[in-house]
Amino acid sequence: MNAYLGVGPREFSGYHELATIFQAVGVYDEVTVSAADSLTISGLGPFADRIPNDHTNLAWQAAELVARACGELPNIQIQIDKAIPIAAGMAGGSADAAATLLACDAYWNSGISRDQLDAMAATLGSDVPFMLHGGCALGVGRGDVLSPVMIRGNFHWVFAIFDDGLATAQIYEKTDELRGLEFEVEPEVPTELLSALARGDAPALGRLLHNDLQLAAITSRPQLGRVLEQGIDLGALGAVISGSGPTCAFLVRDESSAIDLVVALKASGLVDDVLHTHGPVHGARVISTSR
Ligand code: C5P
Repeated sequence: MNAYLGVGPREFSGYHELATIFQAVGVYDEVTVSAADSLTISGLGPFADRIPNDHTNLAWQAAELVARACGELPNIQIQIDKAIPIAAGMAGGSADAAATLLACDAYWNSGISRDQLDAMAATLGSDVPFMLHGGCALGVGRGDVLSPVMIRGNFHWVFAIFDDGLATAQIYEKTDELRGLEFEVEPEVPTELLSALARGDAPALGRLLHNDLQLAAITSRPQLGRVLEQGIDLGALGAVISGSGPTCAFLVRDESSAIDLVVALKASGLVDDVLHTHGPVHGARVISTSR
């Protein structure tokens, strides 16, 4: 999730300069690669039928990149056991791509350096490098140029999930439209937010959560504004749209406040599902190998 997402003006390339604070949170997909006659993708879990099973899936592209770099044919099956909601602003597709890079690296014993893997990750998508690293990081450039951020302790998050996704590119476009052509403010993460993270100060972080894509997400789907307000009314320390939405992220004081908020949001009928987790956690990692 992005505790802060500052978005600069649209550049000639169509992309936007970002200044963002990523925090990896404990919602995980599990990616397994195994021998097959050709490259295939299959899904498991509650969102399985919505997982693209062709080259449009970043995991597919990740496998092709590693295969090419180590001179192998990409004859593998990629199985994705999906818990991260799809098209939700939670960078789930990027997480799967990062996991596939590592899985293929291990599967073919590729000898690719960590720097090369980072470079491959950046070509796949702006969030993929962070998903390799995890933890908490400042992202600039397109969000792919990372530096570590000091963070103390653990933060409790509640996420309100919706079945209908939002398209990232459209939310960036809407943001440009709302700001107008003359917008030219360069994004910057406030130092107060960096020091709140370093102190492990959840109430201060809650007040400073911010996302420049939020207005566009709410304009596209006004219900999201009501959900964010409701979370604050129900005692959250802060509320923000995650990434390009529609997921709404709430920072809460502790485990028991999280459980109270989960119950209240579920009862509100405004959301399709609610998750409770914490961050920061690790990024993509190899769980086991048998080959
Ligand atoms: O890099 P990624 O594929 O995740 O980005 C999806 C879309 O979001 C891009 O096609 C672009 O329209 C928009 N985007 C952007 N500026 C960024 C990152 C993404 O405009 N820094």
